[in-house]
Amino acid sequence: MNVHAPALAEAHHFDEQTSAFARDVIDDLSQHPKRLSPKYFYDAAGSELFEQITLLPEYYPTRTELTILRDRSRAISAFIPKGAALVEFGAGATTKVRLLLNECALGAYVPVDISGDFLQAQADALGADFPGLQVHPVTADFTAPFELPDSIGAMPRVGFFPGSTLGNFEPHEASAFLRSARGILGKGARMVIGVDLEKDERVLYDAYNDAAGITARFNLNVLHRINRELGGDFDVGAFVHRAIYNRDRHRIEMHLISKKALTARVLGKKFSFRPGESIHTENSYKYSLERFTALAKGSGWTPLESWTDPAGMFSVHALVASD
Ligand code: AVJ
Repeated sequence: MNVHAPALAEAHHFDEQTSAFARDVIDDLSQHPKRLSPKYFYDAAGSELFEQITLLPEYYPTRTELTILRDRSRAISAFIPKGAALVEFGAGATTKVRLLLNECALGAYVPVDISGDFLQAQADALGADFPGLQVHPVTADFTAPFELPDSIGAMPRVGFFPGSTLGNFEPHEASAFLRSARGILGKGARMVIGVDLEKDERVLYDAYNDAAGITARFNLNVLHRINRELGGDFDVGAFVHRAIYNRDRHRIEMHLISKKALTARVLGKKFSFRPGESIHTENSYKYSLERFTALAKGSGWTPLESWTDPAGMFSVHALVASD
C-alpha cells in the first residue's frame, strides 16, 4: 500500500468511492507489472460501452447466457423455491432477472450493486413492471460481506450471479467469493450462476478483439476515467488495447500497451512507461464444467444441475449450500 495515497485523496476532497479508486490506481500502477482492477471499467461511459459489447457479433457470452436462461427458464425456476428472495450480486441491467420473473413467484428481489443511482432506477422500473414484487436494492460492494435487508425475513434465499463475472476473479478469489456468498445467504441457500466455458481459441480471441474496436474503447476508457476523476494526464492516444488468450491459465488477459516511453502523472505521482510496457487491466477466466463444479464443491456448495447451450459455449449452474 502506498502511504501517500490516502493523504492525497484526502487533500483532494474526494468522496469515499473516488478515494478508493484513487488509492487502488496509485497502488496498482506502482506494481511490477503495472495493473488496474477491471471493476473500474464501469463508470457511465464504460457501462455504456459494455452494453455495446454485449451486442457485438463476436461477443457470444451475453447472448448465449440469455438463450440458456430463456430456453431453460422452466427448469431454472423449478429450482427457485416459491416466495424466495433472489439476491443478485452486481446487478446491472435487469434483463436477465426479468426472464426468471416471468416464470417464478419470487417473494422479493434484492439487487446488490456499488452504483446506487443506477440500481434505484432499475429497481423502480422493475417494480413498475411487476407490481406484486418487493424490490429491496442494496448499495454495496458485493465482493465484501454485506447485510441482507431485514424485510426479506425468513424467505428462502437464492443467489443470482449471471454474466460470468466470476471469471474476473483469480481462482482463489472465486472460491472466497462463493464461500462469502454462502455465508451471506445462509443455511439452505441456493445459487444460480453463469460461467463462461473454454472453447476454440479463435472464438475467444475474437470476442475480446472485435472488428468495430468497441472492446478497445472499453479498455482505454479506464485511462480516460483516471484523467477525468483523478485529474490524471495520461496520453490515452499513446496506448493500445491488447487481448490474448493465456492457454496455461485458462484466461483471456486484457492489457493496455504503451506505444512509447512516456510519463503519466496521477495525483502528483509520476508513473513512467517503457515502450511496449503493459498495464494488465483484466483477466476473464474460462472454466470447463468439471473445473467449475470442483471449484463450487470446494467452496461450500453442492452442484445440482448445469445447463449449456447446444454448442457448449456458456453454462448456467444450480448450486445448493452444503452443510
Ligand atoms: C463482464 C467480466 C463477464 O469478461 O467477458 C467484456 C467483461 N471485458 N469484454 C468478460 C469484458 C471485455 C466481461 N465480464
